[in-house]
Amino acid sequence: MRPEVSFIFGGISKEYDSSVSSLEHIIATYLGTPNIERRFDVKNIHHISRNDGLVRTFSFSETFTISDLHHVISGTGIANGRTLVYALDEIASCNEYVVNLLHGQFGEDGGIQTLAALLGLKGTFGDPQVASLTMNKYAMSSFVSSLLPSDIVGVPKTRLITAKDNLDVAQIANLFRGPIVVKPNSLGSSLLTEVFHEPATSGVEVVALIKEILENDSAALLQEFVRGDEYSCGCMIDSSNVVPLPVMKIKTDRGFFGLKEKSRKDMFDLEAVDDLNNSISARIKSAARSIASAIDLYNVVRFDFIVTPRSEIVFLECNYIPGMGNESIFPAMLEKHGMTVTDLIHWVALHSKQYTRKNHLIRGKIDVESPL
Ligand SMILES: Nc1ncnc2c1ncn2[C@@H]1O[C@H](COP(=O)(O)OP(=O)(O)O)[C@@H](O)[C@H]1O
Ligand SMILES: [Mg+2]
Repeated sequence: MRPEVSFIFGGISKEYDSSVSSLEHIIATYLGTPNIERRFDVKNIHHISRNDGLVRTFSFSETFTISDLHHVISGTGIANGRTLVYALDEIASCNEYVVNLLHGQFGEDGGIQTLAALLGLKGTFGDPQVASLTMNKYAMSSFVSSLLPSDIVGVPKTRLITAKDNLDVAQIANLFRGPIVVKPNSLGSSLLTEVFHEPATSGVEVVALIKEILENDSAALLQEFVRGDEYSCGCMIDSSNVVPLPVMKIKTDRGFFGLKEKSRKDMFDLEAVDDLNNSISARIKSAARSIASAIDLYNVVRFDFIVTPRSEIVFLECNYIPGMGNESIFPAMLEKHGMTVTDLIHWVALHSKQYTRKNHLIRGKIDVESPL
């Protein structure tokens, strides 16, 4: 019998569009496969509206088309929305297996993972604490730098900025000598992420960008700009193994994978890197495996790195729910590995381990006689 899965997507984060792209690509691939060859059934598609935050559910049927998906997204012709907690509780009581495609805030940072854990929702949510660690770029870099020696993987020199710091133009000039990257600590998709090649003369722009970041995120990062080639390594994770996928080199004209590059396929190139001819690829895979094995990750993950001209590997970030859109990096890795996104969903439904919340109370261990 084919496993049955549902999807949850959309959401109220800045990465709503990435979530829609991920779902669209998975559904288009699914619909493009003759029914007899499909390896799972789709039960429901749950859309969280970015307008009202309500969940509207569409039951999948044989006659479903991509234009139905656009109706799901626009909310037309679908019954009234339910609040998120109510909807998740209902989904849990139906014992649905839910693939979480909510990128960004709340979907990827431990928010929905906490609700899923409390409600006993089955699916790809994973451990809430791990989700929030990985979304916090500063915390995750600190974790990686304490896990691995810097000759295996280094991290960029970074300054964490919160509203309390009240940085002014004069301070910016003194923080770093060379070019810097300014980015949010926990948004993705290169939103509000920019490189300043001469920060000493761009203080006003840097301060303005930090201000904008702090309106959308609780912290901003000022980071040394690491010159080099950019690589990404995805992994598939089951209950006993971390399997690194083919490493992809990301090539852009300006050596920076920013928002404009990410939003236009003609502005970046992906090149699969072969292990046999490239020791960097083997080193990146080994680093990715070490990091993924050290935290309790579920299903998939994708790490971004820069390799300097001196072949040092520098960790940039961990993507807890990598984009699955048509032009995203993870599907390209899968393709090189001989899989489609729907093969991945099938694999996840069959092989990935399920997170179960531990009891919070230690029962039977309280010694009432012992003095405090
Ligand atoms: N310290 C850095 N040095 C050089 N390039 C960087 C640095 N930080 C970010 N970038 C560039 O910005 C892009 C986005 O940054 P990243 O940390 O991966 O966040 P996200 O992809 O979540 O927005 C990277 O893919 C890379 O091209
Ligand atoms: Mg990235």
